[in-house]
Amino acid sequence: MSDVAEGSRNDAALVLDELAKCFECDGARLPVLEPTSIRVKRGELFVMLGPSGCGKTTVLRIIAGLEPPSSGEVRLDGRRVQGPSPERGMVFQDFTSFAWLTVSENIAFGLRLRPHDPGEVRQTVADWVRKVGLDGFESFYPRDLSGGMQQRVAIARTLAVQPKLVLMDEPFGSLDAQARWQMQEMLLNLRRESPTTIVFVTHDVEEAIFLGDRIAVFSPRPARLLREFSVPYGVTRDRSITRAAPFIEMERQIHVAMRGEV
Ligand SMILES: Nc1ncnc2c1ncn2[C@@H]1O[C@H](COP(=O)(O)OP(=O)(O)O)[C@@H](O)[C@H]1O
Ligand SMILES: [Mg+2]
Repeated sequence: MSDVAEGSRNDAALVLDELAKCFECDGARLPVLEPTSIRVKRGELFVMLGPSGCGKTTVLRIIAGLEPPSSGEVRLDGRRVQGPSPERGMVFQDFTSFAWLTVSENIAFGLRLRPHDPGEVRQTVADWVRKVGLDGFESFYPRDLSGGMQQRVAIARTLAVQPKLVLMDEPFGSLDAQARWQMQEMLLNLRRESPTTIVFVTHDVEEAIFLGDRIAVFSPRPARLLREFSVPYGVTRDRSITRAAPFIEMERQIHVAMRGEV
């Protein structure tokens, strides 16, 4: 299929086409990703699930344009990714708000990098403060916020510029269980309000099913796509699904896939 045809379709926002990566260090070769092809549909939350060290961050960095692939390519709406771009926003595991900027200034940061109307920026920032539940904290600095609140700032800052694709690298991985649950529910709410294509990396099976539309399960390094799962829930989900039989059965199947038994 040509890139032009792909670009005019609206169900294949992101394509990884035979993407592979091997690091070369001091003459040694470290294979990290075996040739992998994946299609992420527009508006989909696609989870990449795999054990620690398998190569998940490397794949996200390649999609972000921060790292070149060894072979194959990444296409967004049919156009080949060749470097970083504001059309692809990334949220990292470590809280990456700008320490010297307030909550509002952090959220406004990307909006102010391009031609803008100050009144519109103020309105957009106010909208995002509300959406991520940071009302009353607008003039706080990140050091005075909890980890979960700092991650809300990073998510709002990333989404406020309306990227075509959001890359999330274990964004809730360093939060305690209760904050993690709150953040997962907030992310589901955000998706209900404004559909965004998201590639979400995690090593947590329950998180993958609770948030994902589709899940790609990877092997230990070098990452190899073991199996893809479609999650049978819409964007409206609550915690009770995690205790029901279909959820538990999918968890079981994913664990089986991860052990390489299928
Ligand atoms: N820039 C680099 N140079 C060499 N090796 C790297 C580099 N970045 C990551 N690696 C190696 O690639 C492997 C996969 O790392 P990573 O993508 O961070 O895994 P994950 O995110 O799944 O934990 C690791 O063995 C890591 O040491
Ligand atoms: Mg990682």
